[in-house]
Amino acid sequence: MVVDMNVLVTGASGLLGSKLAAILLSKGYTVYAGYFGNMPVHGVPVKVDVSDENSVCKAFMLSKPDVVVHAAALTNVDTCELKKDQAWATNVIGTKNVTKFSKQYNSFLVYVSTDYVFKGDKGLYCEEDTPEPINYYGYTKFKGEEEVRNVLEEYCIARTSVIYGSFPATGKTNFVLWIIDKLTKGERINVVVDQYNSPTLNTNLAEMLSEIIERKHIGIFHLAGATRINRYDFAKIVAEVFNLDKSLIQPTASDKISWVAKRPKDSSLNVGKALRTLDNKPLSINSSLKKLVSEIG
Ligand SMILES: NC(=O)c1ccc[n+]([C@@H]2O[C@H](COP(=O)([O-])OP(=O)(O)OC[C@H]3O[C@@H](n4cnc5c(N)ncnc54)[C@H](OP(=O)(O)O)[C@@H]3O)[C@@H](O)[C@H]2O)c1
Repeated sequence: MVVDMNVLVTGASGLLGSKLAAILLSKGYTVYAGYFGNMPVHGVPVKVDVSDENSVCKAFMLSKPDVVVHAAALTNVDTCELKKDQAWATNVIGTKNVTKFSKQYNSFLVYVSTDYVFKGDKGLYCEEDTPEPINYYGYTKFKGEEEVRNVLEEYCIARTSVIYGSFPATGKTNFVLWIIDKLTKGERINVVVDQYNSPTLNTNLAEMLSEIIERKHIGIFHLAGATRINRYDFAKIVAEVFNLDKSLIQPTASDKISWVAKRPKDSSLNVGKALRTLDNKPLSINSSLKKLVSEIG
């Protein structure tokens, strides 16, 4: 099936973007895969530095997108705290540039944002809750949301949480692959008990985003896994599902770990709106991990 639509995915070499590009291609879209340093595997590669207006202009000229999924970001929370200029340039100026050309080309923009826009003092945040980021990464992603909201009338802001998937992307591991790797090697790991999120399988998220594109859903959506869980319990379930030794996982607390940036205690997302609106539903931890097992093979 060929769909007469061009989609520009920024961050298409990343954990989410690479999966999204693959799924959109399989549905017949023409996918332009924006990347910065790591060559994407799926789609027509388009090298772009989102922080550079001229570079974004060229990417739009080449791809003439009907839809843009802006997934590119500086995602390392500690790096954002240490390199604030780079975080601002990538996450805020980058989103400003992508928004500007989305308006100019009349492209439907889906901006991928994060649970880290929230303070983390209550959890199960709804779309209407007020963001109050406690670290620079969350602040820049929230400023990105403002850029989108202030310029466009029709857009989607899709907030997600702790993404994981079956392959390392951009040369980085992810939480689940890290657990599997360490436990397979018989190494002990410390995992925090006092941080709650809504872990999200990249495939589940990409399928939800694909439906957002197809039906042009407008507004803010929390697109994440359906289970609120702390990192320690999550790691234990991963061990169970992959038949690994869960006694190697030691509980620890956030204040015992020397992170640079503060982490919200509970930034889990309420996914009720996505459950009500979408055919592709947010999956529970167990269903997502079952899917992951089948992907890893
Ligand atoms: N990972 C999570 O747990 C998580 C949780 C909540 C929200 N999110 C959001 O979800 C989105 C996708 O995250 P992810 O984990 O898939 O990201 P990722 O794997 O860290 O990949 C980041 C992507 O951004 C690209 N990029 C970085 N700087 C760029 C620049 N200046 N110009 C153009 N592209 C640039 C990278 O390109 P190269 O690799 O080619 O350099 C890469 O494709 C992000 O917006 C993130 O904020 C992620």
